[in-house]
Amino acid sequence: MRANVKSLNQARQIRQVFGPVMDRLDQVENFFEREFSRAEPMVREVATYVLASGGKRLRPALVLLVSRMLGYHGERDVRYAAVVEMIHTATLIHDDIIDGSDLRRGHATANTRWGNQTSVLVGDWLYTRTMDLCLELGDVDVMRLLTTATLRMTEGEILADRIRGRIDVDEGIYMDISQRKTAELFAAACALPALFQPATLHLTERLLAFGRSVGVSFQLVDDMLDFTAARADLGKPVMADLREGRVTLPIILLLPRLDPRTRRRLGEVVSSGTFEAISETEVLEMVRTSGVLDEVRRRARDFAARAAHEAESFPKGSERDSLLLASEILLDRGM
Ligand code: IPE
Ligand code: IPE
Ligand code: MG
Ligand code: MG
Repeated sequence: MRANVKSLNQARQIRQVFGPVMDRLDQVENFFEREFSRAEPMVREVATYVLASGGKRLRPALVLLVSRMLGYHGERDVRYAAVVEMIHTATLIHDDIIDGSDLRRGHATANTRWGNQTSVLVGDWLYTRTMDLCLELGDVDVMRLLTTATLRMTEGEILADRIRGRIDVDEGIYMDISQRKTAELFAAACALPALFQPATLHLTERLLAFGRSVGVSFQLVDDMLDFTAARADLGKPVMADLREGRVTLPIILLLPRLDPRTRRRLGEVVSSGTFEAISETEVLEMVRTSGVLDEVRRRARDFAARAAHEAESFPKGSERDSLLLASEILLDRGM
C-alpha cells in the first residue's frame, strides 16, 4: 500500500516536471501513431505494443524541455523527442532479449510475446528508421550525435555482456558501463536541441555534461531499485540483475565487507543465476543492513549535484526549473 502511494506521488511529480511541455509530449504520441500506421504490419504491432505499454517518456521530455528553454519554435523538437524514444525502445527490446526478461513496463516483453527473432528485427527497424528521420531533414549533425550515443550504448551492453557471470567486477568498469549504456542517450537528448539554432550551439557541451550526470545518477538509482523496489512499482522484475549474472554497485561495495566464504557463495549466485548457494532473502538482508545502499544514494546525489551545477549556466525560467526538478525526482525514486 505504501509503495503504491509512493508511486502515485512519483507519477504526480513527473507530471509536474513535464508540465511546461505536456502539449508537445502529446504531439510526440501523435508522431508515433502516424509513424507506425505506415509501417510494415509486424513492426506496427510490436512497436505500438511496446510504446503503448507505458514508459516514463523521460528522454523525450528532456528534448522538449531543453528545446523550449532555448527558445526553439519549430517542429524538430517533437520529431527528435520521438526519435530518442524510438532509440530507447529499440534498446529495451534488445536488452530484454539479452537478459531473457519477461516483464517490461508492467507488461509481457516483446520477446515473450513474439519471440526473439521478430523482436530483434523490430529493434533493428526502429534504429534504422531513426537515422532515416534525421536524413529526411538533412540533419546530419543531429544524426551524428545520436549515432554516437547509440554506438556507446551498444558498447555498454557489450561490456556488460563480457563481465556477465563474474563477481570480481571493478567499480571503474561498472561506472564505464553505466555511462555508456544509459548516460550517453540522456546526454544526447539534452544536447540535441542546441543544434536546432546556430545561436545555441555554444551550449552543446554543457548540455551534454548535464545529461550525462543525470543519466549516471538515474542508472545508480535504477540498479539500487532492483534490490529495494516492488515488482508492481518498477514494472519489471526485481532482484533480476543477480539472476541475470549482473553485478552492480550495491554488490561491488558489499563484497569487501563479507567474509571469504560468503563472498564465494555470492559468486556462485552470479555465475549460476540461481539462489541455491545463498538465498534471495539472505542477500537482500546483507545489502539492506550493510550500509551500501546509503553509499549508492550518496553517489547518485553527487551526480545530481553535478547536473545542478551545470544547469546554473542555462537560461533561467520554468524550463530550467523543470530540468532541475527532473534530476531531483529521479534521484528521489531511490531515497
Ligand atoms: C530503463 O529506462 C532502462 C534504464 C536505463 C535503466 P527507463 O526507466 O527510462 O524506462 P521506461 O521508458 O520508463 O520504461
Ligand atoms: C539496459 O540496462 C538498458 C539500457 C540502458 C541499455 P538494464 O539492463 O539495467 O535495464 P533494465 O534494468 O533491464 O531496465
Ligand atoms: Mg535489462
Ligand atoms: Mg537494470
